[in-house]
Amino acid sequence: MDSRQTHMPIFDRWATTYDKSVDSARGVFARYETVLDLVVDRIGSHASGRVLDIGVGTGNLTQRLLHRGAKVVGLDPSEAMLAKANAKLSPRSNLQLVRASDPFLRIPFRDESFDAIASTYAYHHVRPDHKEASLQEMFRVLSPGGVWVVGDLMFEDEQDEQAALRTYSWLEREHFARIAELRPFLARLGAKLDSHPITPFTWVIWTSKPHHK
Ligand SMILES: C[S@@+](CC[C@H](N)C(=O)[O-])C[C@H]1O[C@@H](n2cnc3c(N)ncnc32)[C@H](O)[C@@H]1O
Repeated sequence: MDSRQTHMPIFDRWATTYDKSVDSARGVFARYETVLDLVVDRIGSHASGRVLDIGVGTGNLTQRLLHRGAKVVGLDPSEAMLAKANAKLSPRSNLQLVRASDPFLRIPFRDESFDAIASTYAYHHVRPDHKEASLQEMFRVLSPGGVWVVGDLMFEDEQDEQAALRTYSWLEREHFARIAELRPFLARLGAKLDSHPITPFTWVIWTSKPHHK
């Protein structure tokens, strides 16, 4: 069973109340707005170009990107989440919402289609043994010089994760990224990762795709 089949009923049901969950800014969504703002900030001037939002959900990050003048493609496996995003953002020429069954691993776009890739609160759906393949796939569709920015629950390393899981016992175990493990994957793609902690369990991480040698 793939991750989509396992998770989709949960996300389809959650779509109607999801924005209330993030508005609470509590628990896993502590400092939610700060995370989204920093992701947009790290995208910087690329926000005037073509931006891919993976795990777009109800469209909160995409809404900010559209305000910055981006042309956004939002991918999500949940029809209900996409319907919410569509209702919130209304159809417009600079927005494309696309259902994709595994959007970190199979991106239905050609090589170098995007100036930036952004994702918030979704990368923990990628299994640890698929993280490197997901980075390769995202770099495939990113233009040279383009930026990649992810905000999500994640940890510096396993020790940091274990300590947080003990302190915040309500945190459910998911496929949280470990920054120290992503670094060598990105190094193999010629990229260097930057990171900024927002809470003890939430980070924004970013890098850029090198230009061709
Ligand atoms: C917690 S919501 C985050 C939504 C939005 N990005 C935000 O910041 O509010 C997680 C989203 O990831 C989607 N999702 C679930 N499994 C996924 C997967 N394997 N790859 C990408 N997205 C996935 C869900 O449908 C849901 O819309």
